[in-house]
Amino acid sequence: MSPQSKTVKDYIRTIADFPHEGILFRDVTTLFADPRGFRMAIDQLLHPWAGQKIDKVVGLEARGFILGGAIAHQLSKGFVPIRKKGKLPGQTISQAYTLEYGEAVMEMHEDAIQPGEKVLLVDDLLATGGTAQAGIQLLERVGGEIVGCSFIVDLPELGGRRLLESLGMNVSVLCEFDGA
Ligand code: PRP
Ligand code: MG
Repeated sequence: MSPQSKTVKDYIRTIADFPHEGILFRDVTTLFADPRGFRMAIDQLLHPWAGQKIDKVVGLEARGFILGGAIAHQLSKGFVPIRKKGKLPGQTISQAYTLEYGEAVMEMHEDAIQPGEKVLLVDDLLATGGTAQAGIQLLERVGGEIVGCSFIVDLPELGGRRLLESLGMNVSVLCEFDGA
């Protein structure tokens, strides 16, 4: 396939049985490593929100940091990380969320977003939507106004997009994979 005809999805590698047997892992590192692929992904993640006011770009740990940093730089806006528990040094607010097995906690610095600031939330992949929902809850607790949520991959069978849309979110995904 010529580089000109490749889509974002074409750059994503699938690895079987990672991290558990029976899981098809959608590996975006091959997309990030390709100069055309990475640029195309950043441009397409931004495309739906062109012309809208965005004050801050927020990325979800860990791959959302790679995307959010590049997007914030492109917009000349600030970047804010939402991190797994215990990683941020300042005063934080916390939000628990459900994983396949058990619970986890996401945190954000309480002063990272000011009330009324317009926020774009980004991550690499939307599965059940639990991680993104925790991010949305943190942002709404500090008064952030979420312009949209952008992901590279959606796994539609797991229902994350429906969940976020039921919360009133504008959701954009660049590609879908079945057989999650
Ligand atoms: C993966 C992925 C998303 C999340 C999606 O992250 O990068 O952040 O799962 O799943 P969900 O929609 O069911 O919540 P993971 O928790 O593996 O952590 P990492 O990004 O730090 O590797
Ligand atoms: Mg993640």
